[in-house]
Amino acid sequence: MKKILIINGPNLNLLGRREPDIYGYDTMEQSLARLREKYPSLPIEYFQSNHEGAIIDRIHAVGFDTDLYAGIVLNAGAYTHTSLAIADAIKAIQIPVIEVHISNVASREPIRHTSLIAPVCLGSIAGFGLTSYFLAAQAIIMNPDR
Ligand code: DQA
Repeated sequence: MKKILIINGPNLNLLGRREPDIYGYDTMEQSLARLREKYPSLPIEYFQSNHEGAIIDRIHAVGFDTDLYAGIVLNAGAYTHTSLAIADAIKAIQIPVIEVHISNVASREPIRHTSLIAPVCLGSIAGFGLTSYFLAAQAIIMNPDR
């Protein structure tokens, strides 16, 4: 089975401690453990960075490897709303990218209503807490082109 790469952007290393009323009390490590338990045969890689360039480098590193990777699940954090560079990186690669948000960005401040990456992603999932990552993984698994 091909791999899925989950990329988390800035401040998402603080999950479990960061604004728990919005992002919950679970850590990403707990969520990844549940995901791996649910899909034991699915190889899941995880990468988190607070740096825009590091995220772009990782997208480039895997994005042309269509034999090895089924897709990327990307929570770009606040870069979602600002980074044309990440949008360009997604546009450049060959594997699908699913945009993920833990919170329902549409119900938050207006600046979070704009996503520069949404138009270049296969689809977007938001508002289901850490379950958003499960749903995105499932979307990649079910994508007929994978
Ligand atoms: C987020 C939403 C973004 O607006 C915010 O900057 C984040 C997290 C989410 O998962 O809900 O860092 O991407």
